[in-house]
This record gives sequence, structure tokens and C-alpha cells, in this order.
Amino acid sequence: YKAWLQYSKSEGKYAKTVTPFLKTISSSCDASPVLWSAIEELNQSITQMFDFSPFISFEVMSGKGVVLQLCSESETRLQDEGYMMYTEPNGQLIISGKTETGILYGTFHLLRLLQMGKPIDKLNIIENPANSLRLLNHWDNIDGSIERGYAGKSIFFENDQFSQNYGRLKDYARMLASIGVNGIAINNVNVHQLETKLITPEYLTGVEKIAAIFRAYGVKTFLSINFASPIELGGLKTADPLDEEVKRFWEHAIKTIYTHIPDFGGVVVKADSENRPGPFTYGRSQAEGANMLAEIVAPYGGLVIWRCFVYNCHQDWRDRTTDRAKAAYDHFMPLDGDFHENVVLQIKNGPMDFQVREPVSPLLGGLKETNQVIEFQITQEYLGQQIHLVYLVPQWKEVLEFETYAKGSGSTVKKIVSGELYDRKNNGAAAVVNVGDDYNWTGHTLAQSNLYGYGRLMWSPEMTAEDISNEWITCTFGADPLVLSTIKGMLLNSWTTYENYTSPLGVGWMVNPGHHYGPNVDGYEYQAWGTYHFADWKGLGVNRTMATGTGFSGQYYQKNAEKYESLTDCPEELLLFFHYVPYSYVLSSGKTVIQHIYDTHFAGVEQVEQYRQQWKQLQGRIDKKRFDDVATKLDIQFEHAKEWRDIVNTYFYRKSGIDDQHNRPIY
Ligand code: GCU
Repeated sequence: YKAWLQYSKSEGKYAKTVTPFLKTISSSCDASPVLWSAIEELNQSITQMFDFSPFISFEVMSGKGVVLQLCSESETRLQDEGYMMYTEPNGQLIISGKTETGILYGTFHLLRLLQMGKPIDKLNIIENPANSLRLLNHWDNIDGSIERGYAGKSIFFENDQFSQNYGRLKDYARMLASIGVNGIAINNVNVHQLETKLITPEYLTGVEKIAAIFRAYGVKTFLSINFASPIELGGLKTADPLDEEVKRFWEHAIKTIYTHIPDFGGVVVKADSENRPGPFTYGRSQAEGANMLAEIVAPYGGLVIWRCFVYNCHQDWRDRTTDRAKAAYDHFMPLDGDFHENVVLQIKNGPMDFQVREPVSPLLGGLKETNQVIEFQITQEYLGQQIHLVYLVPQWKEVLEFETYAKGSGSTVKKIVSGELYDRKNNGAAAVVNVGDDYNWTGHTLAQSNLYGYGRLMWSPEMTAEDISNEWITCTFGADPLVLSTIKGMLLNSWTTYENYTSPLGVGWMVNPGHHYGPNVDGYEYQAWGTYHFADWKGLGVNRTMATGTGFSGQYYQKNAEKYESLTDCPEELLLFFHYVPYSYVLSSGKTVIQHIYDTHFAGVEQVEQYRQQWKQLQGRIDKKRFDDVATKLDIQFEHAKEWRDIVNTYFYRKSGIDDQHNRPIY
């Protein structure tokens, strides 16, 4: 289960130069669990890479060697989780942090340098995380199933019990620390009957064991809770957040959690969404619901992570003013400033639901006085379910670089998310993770790069997608230049490829309802979920303009609102998200929309075919198991991409009656 912590053997000149710096590991700190994790990681990896065991001492040793130390409280250049790493003239390689977690992160940085064959004799590094919350959400159920999981079963739960595979959890904790993730919610946001009990002593003993494993790697444990717990567990008649008995129920429940897990991170809540219970049932606002819990967890230092995925999933298509895209903003903007300091709103990156292409949620930048984390989806629910290759870092980069104009120019999403723009503390990101008990963690081996990329990008949003892929490929597959260039090319183009053969120009969906895999252009068109494309014989797209449509474009700051409102200024990749246009509408490429649909769908399939050929060149350069794995996935992707191409093309050919200019077969 090594993923990117392969620590492959290093020989030759590089090994000779770095070895003297690695002969000893000494520290002036007490051997706490986190510090011990750092020492253990160094010891194991050095032994594996360089074939010798370093000498370990709890007295600082002079001369060449790794020294782990806490720096002074007054060191202003470091935040709590930051670190410095520098080489002294006497050859000491100092890794110093304000906390032991900082030291652990520094240790993983050193190991990354060693895996990448970088010099370590003149280090002078200071790093702090850009985002203070770097969270993962597992959508795992106690029966072992994972909602939207594509990599086997849960690593936490099995057959209504806690899984006993603690070694695996420890490996996972190591992986998370190596990319700077500092919190995990271990259960599904849709909290079912049994999972509701996770906050009771019967189950907390199990959660406690998990928390201990992750604590040693600087990762806090969170639980998703059921807002109706006072009814389901407490036997009350109500879950009204203003009811005194309900408050007493939660006080008791939260106290019990903290008795088991003193550093418990907090609760994640999906309320009033997709038929989940919430404060709306009692005529209370989202803020009243969240604040009630926040007051109770505050004395323990806990957070309430409250999701903004609140919308009406029983929509009437005739009502063209109701628009799912508008819902989160409509619900939460009026409450800006009403949430307590330890409430963090969790906002999906786009206004719909993790489609291949969406605009950025207008709540990001809209909310000024509310803590928030952006929510990404690493698990590829709508993006090929870890059968198709889709490297998501370029998509997330685009989102983070998006200019909101919230405070004039320079108000990018990354600055809002990090808390910099509005000077907020409890901010950052959360992501629905793609991990299961498959031997390679993520189903598709190359999908590991998305988990890796999420962690690295949230630590440092300035990194490019290419930097991150370089690191991941080298740590995972070694330093072979052909392996590096081939996989990098595939990763960096894969999102565009997937977009090419799936839903065009930002319109989204067109998937099979329910499981969301595979093409079905009208799959959701006649359902009440509010995810329409409105294609007819004249054209397609959703009119979300203020002038004649749903008015969604008006949720953005003026510059963006004007851009999206205008047919000619709207970025073409989002054209059909904001506008209904005829098939003959001409794009800046000179092609009509219908011709664009045909061309991209043919191109997408050809690109997948190229990936298959490129991958074949790597045979013998990558171990057989991982090579075969990816080769098989690419074969399936190729077959399914053809299906997408043919179904989408024939659908629009029949709707529009317009021939392909190149007379390619359309079924
Ligand atoms: C999507 C997804 C659901 C999930 C929901 C959420 O709609 O399909 O499985 O529960 O998002 O984010 O809560």
C-alpha cells in the first residue's frame, strides 16, 4: 500500500552525497507520538532508500546529521504547522517547527527531496500552510460501503463493525501527513440509522482508536452527525435547535465525544438537503441550527462544519425562475455574519454538483463575515468513477485562480479560501476523498495523483499542476524520464479529454441517473432534481441571465455578472451553463455549436486512444501489476468514451438535423 511513499532504492553519486547527512537522527524534543512518527518515517525510509540504519538519539548530535527540534515560541516567521529546514555550516540538517506537527511536515519535505534526487547540502526553506483547514470527508458507511466510492470498501468499517486493519490506517495516516492533510471526517454526510450512533459510547470506543492513529500524524478526527439525533437517539419529539431539551441532548452527546477524544475536531453537518433533516423543519434558519451546535462544541475547541449544499430537489421544470444553481447563495448570503466564530461553511466549488465544468460558486467571495472551506470532490463521481483517467488538479487550480472581484482585482478564490482576503481564521478546504480498501487505494492507480494533488495544493496553492505531477510521478514511479514525461502528458491533458467526449460547453450532467456513470443525455432531463440542459430541435443550454433567464448571473460581482450575462463575453467553456443558443451559433473558433459538439467528441476518443499507445511504451519500465492495472483501465475508458461520443453525437444530430461537416459516422 505504498502509493507515493515508495522510497525506492537510491544508488550511485546522489546516494553518496546525501548519505553523510542522514547517518544520525537526533532530537531535543520529548518522544511524543507525533515526533516519534517523524523519527520512524525517517528511519524506515532511509534504511529502504540507502541501505543503512541511521543512529537515533534524543540528545542533539553535532556534525552532519538530521536534527529535529522545536523552535522558539517567538519565531514570527512560522505558523503552528509551519517548519524551517536548513543546513548548518557544520553539516547539521535542522528541521524545526513550532509544534511537532510542523517538524513532521518538514520531515516529509526532506523525504520528498530525497525521493526526487534533490540536493540537501544547502537547504534554506521556510514553509507555512496557506490554508489552516485541510480536510478530507469520507462518505463511508458502517456496513463497509462507500457512497460514491470507486476503490473497494471502506478502510474504517466492515460489516457493521470497525475494521481491525490498523496497519492500513497507519499507512493512510502517513500518506495524509506527507501531503499536509490535518483533519478527516470518517463517515458519510448522509448519516443513516446505525451511523447516527457513532456519537454514542458503544461506537466511540472504536472512533477513539482511529483518532489515536491519526493523532500521531497531526490529523484530527471529525464525525458527520445526524441533525435528528435528539429524536433518533434521545427519544425526543423534536430536533428543534432552540428547544432546551434538544440542547441538553447535544450537550451530553458532545461531552461524551470529548471524553473519548479530547482533541476531536468537530462535527460535519448536511442539513435540509436531499431529504436530510435540518432546522428548516422547525422554521429555524441554517444559522440557528449551526450556532446551537457551535455553542456546545466551543468550550472544547471544536468546529461545526456546516455544508451549503442546500437546494430544492423537487423542482418543476415549468418554473423557470427556480434554479438549483442559485440555491446555496439564496440560502446563505442573507445569513452572512450570523454564524459563530467556530462555524465553518463548507461550499462546493461550483453551484451545482462537481460537474466536469462549472463556474465558481458565487458564495465564494460573496460571504465576507463567515468562515468557509471550499469543497472539492476527489472521488470521481461524475468524472469517470476512477475508470476514466481525470487528473483534477488543473480544474482545482482554475477554481482557485478565479478572480471574484470581491474586493476589486486580486480577489482570487485562493485568497478567499485561505482567509487572507477577509482576514478569517478557520478557513481552507475539504474534499470528498477517493480512497477505499483496494490494494492501490484509489481503484485507478493514477487516481492517487488526485489525492496527492489535493493535499499539496491546499498546503500551497501557488504550486502548478505540473510541479505537483512531477512530484507525484517521481515519488510513485521513480526517476525514469520517459515514465515522467509520458504520465505527465497524460495527466495534464486528461481533464480536457474527458470534457471533450462528455457534456459540452459547461452544460453538465447527461449521465445515467442514480449511479452517475456513463452517458444518458436526457437522464436527468425529465426528473425533478433541477439539472436540465433544455435541448430541443432549435438549440440547447440554460438561460441563467438576469435579462431573460433565471438570474443566476446576477449573483456575481458586477464584472463577472456582466461577463456571464453577455452572450459574446461569456467564456465559451461555460456558454451553455449561462445561455440557451441555437445549434448554428458560431463560436470564436468559427465553428458552430453543433460542429463543436461533433468535433470534440471525436477528438476526445482519439485522445484516449493516444493515451493507450503512450502507456504501452512504458511496459517493462513500471512494475507489472501497476502497468497492467492502468492498461486495463485505459482499455475500458476507450470503450466507454466511444459510447459517450456516439450517444451524445447521435442525440444532437437527431435533435438538430444538421450534418457533420466531415461526414464521420454518427449512429
Ligand atoms: C451529490 C451526490 C450524493 C451526495 C451529495 C452531497 O448529490 O450524488 O451522493 O450525498 O452530493 O454532497 O451531499
